[in-house]
Formats: sequence, C-alpha cells, structure tokens
Amino acid sequence: MYYSLLFVLYFMCIVIQNSDGLDNGLALTPPMGWMSWERYRCTIDCEFNRNDEANDECISEKLFKKTADLMVSEGYLEAGYEYVIIDDCWLAMDRDEDGKLQPDPDRFPSGIKALADYIHSKGLKFGIYEDYGTNTCAGYPGIIDNLELDAQTFAEWDVDYIKIDGCYANISDYPKGYPEFGKYLNETGRPIVYSCSWPAYEDESDYEAISKTCNLWRNYGDIQDSWSSATSIINWYGDNQDKFAQYAGPGHWNDPDMLIVGNFGLTYGQSRAQMALWSLLAAPLLLSTDLANVRPEYKEILLNEDLIAINKDPLGIQGLRIIQKDGIEVWTRPITPIIDEYESYAIVILNQNEDPAPTKVSIRVRKIGLKAKKYTLKDLYDPEKSPKEPTDHINVSVDPSGGVVALKATPVKRKLGLPQINEIDN
Ligand code: GLA
Repeated sequence: MYYSLLFVLYFMCIVIQNSDGLDNGLALTPPMGWMSWERYRCTIDCEFNRNDEANDECISEKLFKKTADLMVSEGYLEAGYEYVIIDDCWLAMDRDEDGKLQPDPDRFPSGIKALADYIHSKGLKFGIYEDYGTNTCAGYPGIIDNLELDAQTFAEWDVDYIKIDGCYANISDYPKGYPEFGKYLNETGRPIVYSCSWPAYEDESDYEAISKTCNLWRNYGDIQDSWSSATSIINWYGDNQDKFAQYAGPGHWNDPDMLIVGNFGLTYGQSRAQMALWSLLAAPLLLSTDLANVRPEYKEILLNEDLIAINKDPLGIQGLRIIQKDGIEVWTRPITPIIDEYESYAIVILNQNEDPAPTKVSIRVRKIGLKAKKYTLKDLYDPEKSPKEPTDHINVSVDPSGGVVALKATPVKRKLGLPQINEIDN
C-alpha cells in the first residue's frame, strides 16, 4: 500500500513536470499593477528633458523606481495594484557574449536584477516584456531562437510576470510556440504570470488552448489615450463576447489592455466608465499613467474599493453586455455573495449617446436576468444616490458621452416559508 502510494505520487510528479499546460497556480484574480506602454511608449531619448531634475519620462530604471515609490506612497499597492511592469524598449540591440538578453546599458545601468530587487524591496512584484518573434514590436531582439535560455534568464532576474508579444513571428507558429515558452517558464520553478498576445494577432482563436497556456491574453488592438479607442474595445468585447468570455476564470483572463485613467484623453465620466467596465469584465487592472500627477478625483476612481472587489470577485465570472438599445448599454456580472442560491450582480449602465442631457433609464431587474424577487442596490461611485429600500426596479439617470452608473445588486434574503420568485409574475 505504502509503495503503491509512493508510485502514484512519483507518477504525478512526472506528469506535472512534463506538463505543457499552465500549472503555475497564479493570477487567481485578474492581475493588478502598472505597465509603461500606453503612457510612456518607446521614449528612449533621456536627454530631451535635461533641465527637468526628475527626467523620468523615458524608459529607464529611474522611471520604474520612481513608479515603484509612488505605488507605495500613493496607496496603489495597498489597494491591490502590485506589479510594476516594463513594456517594450528596455533591451540593448544585441545579446551579451553568452547569448543572453541584456538591457540598454545607458538607461538601465544597474541591470534588471537590481531593478527587480528594488521593486521587491518595496513589497511590489516585477514584470517585464518580450516578444515571441525575431524582434519585439519596437524592433529589439525577440526570443524565438532562445526560448529556454531566455526563460531561465527571466527567472534569474526574479521576474514575476512576463508579457510575450507576437510581432515578427508567423502567426501559425503561435499554437506551438506560446505553450513551448510556457513550458520553459514552468521548468524554471519560479512562479511567473504568463501574459500572451497570441489571440491579439489572429482572426479566429483557439481560446481553449490559450486559456490552458496563459494566465491572461490580449485579444484586441492597443488602447490609445482616447474615449474612441476605449469604446472600440468595449464594443468589440460586447460584439464578440460569446467567443471568449467563458474562458475567463481564476488563473486565466481576457485582457482588454491597460487603464488610461489619469491621462489626457478621458473625461471624468469616461474614466469612471473604463474603471467600472474593466472591473465588470474581470480584466487585469494595469495602470499606465504618471502616478506623480494623477488628479485626486481620478485617483479616487482608480482606488475605488467596491469596484476592485468586484474585479477580484472569487466567482471569477466575466461580465457580459446584455442590452444595447438606443445608445444605452447594460452590462452585468454575477458575483458573491450568493443568497438563497441567488448570486449578487455588478451592473454597469453605460450611456453612449452624445445628447446634452443625462438619459433616464428604468430597468426591471428580472428583465435583465436577475432572478431574486428583490435586491438592495448600492451605487458604487455615488453611494448617497443608492435607493434606500429594496427594489425590483433600477431607475437611474446616466450622463451622456460615456457616463456610467455602476451598481451592486444584492438579493434580499427570503423570509422563511415564502417563495422567492412570484412564478406568475413573468
Ligand atoms: C504591441 C503591444 C503593445 C505594446 C507594444 C510595444 O503593439 O500590443 O501593448 O507592448 O507592442 O512595442
């Protein structure tokens, strides 16, 4: 008996070790952090702002150290934003004499391991970017001929998160290549969140395979600093949700790209909309903004505890667009607590109209698939506007041009002996 148990354990170890699948136990809730690309792009001219003491607008260790400091001092880490992630343009154009990747020596003079150490010393986690092809999207060396060595290098540098882009590669190689690199990551023994851009470059994707390989995956184009860009992503997610929403869950998430809140392109209302929808979509919450200069009311949006809790809800279900009519959209996501077998719901009502005045919307909760007889509603941005009594209707006024109302609906506990649903009330 004892020996057969040992044999089973031994066999399980072999299976786990040889597994190509995702067995890292990470990203049980969507990753939260900060990523350089949307705000800082590939700015490599560090001389430009010479007379600015800080001179930290370029992709350099200075920028990431400053950001790490601000993540802590401004309360972002405490709210859950834990990864500091370098996107493209950190590399030197050539590998070192041992064939290893190396950072640009002028912009990262202390090396990547030292930067990782600094970020870890602040209680944060460290992420980095590479590309499956011959080159990164900005033209720096890619990993295609060095998958195993590069996975080992990232582990030696104490990387906790890696984004692997898909430029300069044959798209037809992805189904073999992304799992292969994932296998090498697993073999390092270091837990590294694996973000893939695999479906972002494909017309049709095998999400079954992708969700078994990657902790998260970009599936659409890059976000830019504008509401039109954010809405193109929101619309695409709504239009195509049936293809991929069901693949989201603990350990594996769809990634609609970074949050642009705090930058130049969104109004206050649109910023609330992006944060609410990304939370409802169980999307990674990756800030890409200058944390030293986020206006307080925008910072408040990013630190909204209720929305972050919805984003991290343990059911891990991605929300869906369930109504789209006359410029008004209703998005819902089942969340905890579950009361009398009825889930609670996050509800985001988005107004895409450009009318001068807010639109009045009245929705019967049963009509949007919420089955309990009554709910208490909490307005997540303006709690003082929450209805006082339990209700079966949602009556809200939603600002135009990307305004939202974000609600949490919690079922009212059934009194013993009374049925929860009035069956004749269809
Ligand atoms: C692609 C990605 C972006 C960013 C850039 C870097 O466009 O989608 O998120 O990583 O490459 O070059």
